[in-house]
Amino acid sequence: MSSKPGSSKSVESQRPVPPVLRDVGKLAAGVASVSTGGSATGNLRNKYALAPGHSLMDWIRLGSSGKDLTGVGSQAGNLSVTPSELALHNKETDAWLCIRGRVYNVTAYLPFHPGGPEQLMKGAGKDATRLFEEVHPWVNFDQILTKCYVGKLKAHPEFEPEEVFKSEKNAPPPPQNNETVANATKEPILLPRFDWIQKLDYITIIFYTGNFSNPMLETTTRGDDNTHSIFLTYNNTIFDNEIVFAGKVHFPGRIKVTCETGKVELCYKKCQGSVWDNFGVLKQKARPYTDSLVQAKLKCKVVNKIKVNYNTVLIELERSDNTKSVVPLGKHIKVFDTIKGEEIVRSYTPVPICLFSKFRQQNYTTDNICLMVKRYPEGNLSKILGDCLTGDTVTISKPLGSFNLQEIEKRETFIILAAGTGITPMFAIILFLLERRIRKCQRLRLLFFNRTPDDIPFRTQFEELQREEPRFKVFHVLSQADNTWTGLRGHVSRSILEETIADHLKDTTYVKSDVYFMVCGPTIFTTLTQQLFKDLQFKDEQIHFFLG
Ligand SMILES: Cc1cc2nc3c(=O)[nH]c(=O)nc-3n(C[C@H](O)[C@H](O)[C@H](O)COP(=O)(O)OP(=O)(O)OC[C@H]3O[C@@H](n4cnc5c(N)ncnc54)[C@H](O)[C@@H]3O)c2cc1C
Ligand code: HEM
Repeated sequence: MSSKPGSSKSVESQRPVPPVLRDVGKLAAGVASVSTGGSATGNLRNKYALAPGHSLMDWIRLGSSGKDLTGVGSQAGNLSVTPSELALHNKETDAWLCIRGRVYNVTAYLPFHPGGPEQLMKGAGKDATRLFEEVHPWVNFDQILTKCYVGKLKAHPEFEPEEVFKSEKNAPPPPQNNETVANATKEPILLPRFDWIQKLDYITIIFYTGNFSNPMLETTTRGDDNTHSIFLTYNNTIFDNEIVFAGKVHFPGRIKVTCETGKVELCYKKCQGSVWDNFGVLKQKARPYTDSLVQAKLKCKVVNKIKVNYNTVLIELERSDNTKSVVPLGKHIKVFDTIKGEEIVRSYTPVPICLFSKFRQQNYTTDNICLMVKRYPEGNLSKILGDCLTGDTVTISKPLGSFNLQEIEKRETFIILAAGTGITPMFAIILFLLERRIRKCQRLRLLFFNRTPDDIPFRTQFEELQREEPRFKVFHVLSQADNTWTGLRGHVSRSILEETIADHLKDTTYVKSDVYFMVCGPTIFTTLTQQLFKDLQFKDEQIHFFLG
């Protein structure tokens, strides 16, 4: 079903966001003006240059000095603060803020804040939970601010989040796409929060899409002016962000999507190195992600291709429409072709481009699409892709699929069952799980089913990762191995599953219901595994089956 053009209500806002004064100030003062190193958080920001005597050690010393940092004397820790009372403490000389219901007097901490006092002041007088979590949810604020704790915040309706769709009447029409309807939410839709930061030669724009939002990103430029469009799709909604930069930049920028926090960074090189007074103008719109958008056909060029083993290739595709895109974790795309006048369509799951060199997390997300394709001699599309050459055109769809990253947010221990090319969604998921910082993945086991040792793609890469990363274990199960094979044999079965789970839980405090399973492979493998999990009485909410 497709929606009528113009029938969907969209929400717009235009934000001329004020300049990030601290960066301009720093540059003017000649401090860290052309710093090239990343921050301790691994993102693109310049860390604020703290004045001497304001290191973490100095802060700890101040906290232990006996000085009252709360400003409320003996009432410290016992106050029940109303939102209007909190709002009064919004000055640099008297700054309180609230995180997760706890109110702190951060006045003394301002010159110690590694992100700079201006950043911290953004939360002064407010419930700063969202701001805080969007930037650095891993920071142990309660420990750092333990001597600044004033008391609890009294719950109050004043503290509603900024709503874009305020009422049912103004809400967007329900999504038309069946795949997304299942996940439809009645929550109000918030535009992604925007921020920017600059160095002499670079400008970085940042969108905060929310923890585990797993956004799809597409970005393009009109080329003739400084207008760039950044489309972010998540929660069944497309957020259309149009930026007119204050000066010319090179397209494309480098893209980084941090799935855990939903932080999306686009770093552009300025055509001329200078400090801008402002980034330009941003217009934001939100509209539902409809079927007609999912069905778009996108032409791509093959820009790189290598052999993985005797029947499998890696192919890198670059979009031909001057658009860069990032496919969300666990989603697949469709590939279209025509054989004897008949259209054929098959699904493929993009894999991380690092597979062209080393299977490791990269600093920047790739903006080309990389496929791993097993060529079947009798196959239709797999043969075309297996035989394609650099420069050929391949037509693909936008990403699809029911994988919901939020399902695994609270999990720490995982077992992956993959058969053959069912490994494709797991590459990116494995890297993501091992990189998590807020809730660390403690154990991750891959049970990889293939026919013979020669059929195992990236075997040495998995084994290398296992040597370097003690939380990760890989076990190969082969159905047609010869006598030299000393590992596991056979097909997926009840006994293999039971032994795997028992071994995975050994010497841990986890129980069966803590484990999250992800399963992907040919239909027969998935159907059999579904039945086995049913027999073993595992709950649906702890298993994801990747289906077509
Ligand atoms: C969600 C999803 C994601 C997928 N991701 C990938 C991926 O990343 N990489 C990838 O290579 N494939 C992937 N596949 C499988 C892919 O979509 C095709 O089914 C596969 O490439 C075969 O298509 P074909 O047109 O070549 O063969 P078809 O024309 O469909 O089949 C023709 C003949 O090819 C042979 N054949 C086809 N499939 C198989 C098989 N599984 N086992 C044995 N013989 C077979 C048989 O002889 C069959 O009669 C995915 C499938 C789904 C549903
Ligand atoms: C209120 C909103 C806040 C905002 C907008 C904010 C913003 C920032 C920014 C922009 C950075 C630099 C990030 C980087 O270099 O990658 C930063 C770093 C940091 N902030 Fe905040 N901050 C806030 C609140 C707090 C609070 C309340 C605390 C602590 C108690 C805190 C502690 C830190 C620490 C420890 C770092 C360094 C983190 C790291 O290197 O990983 N911040 N902050």
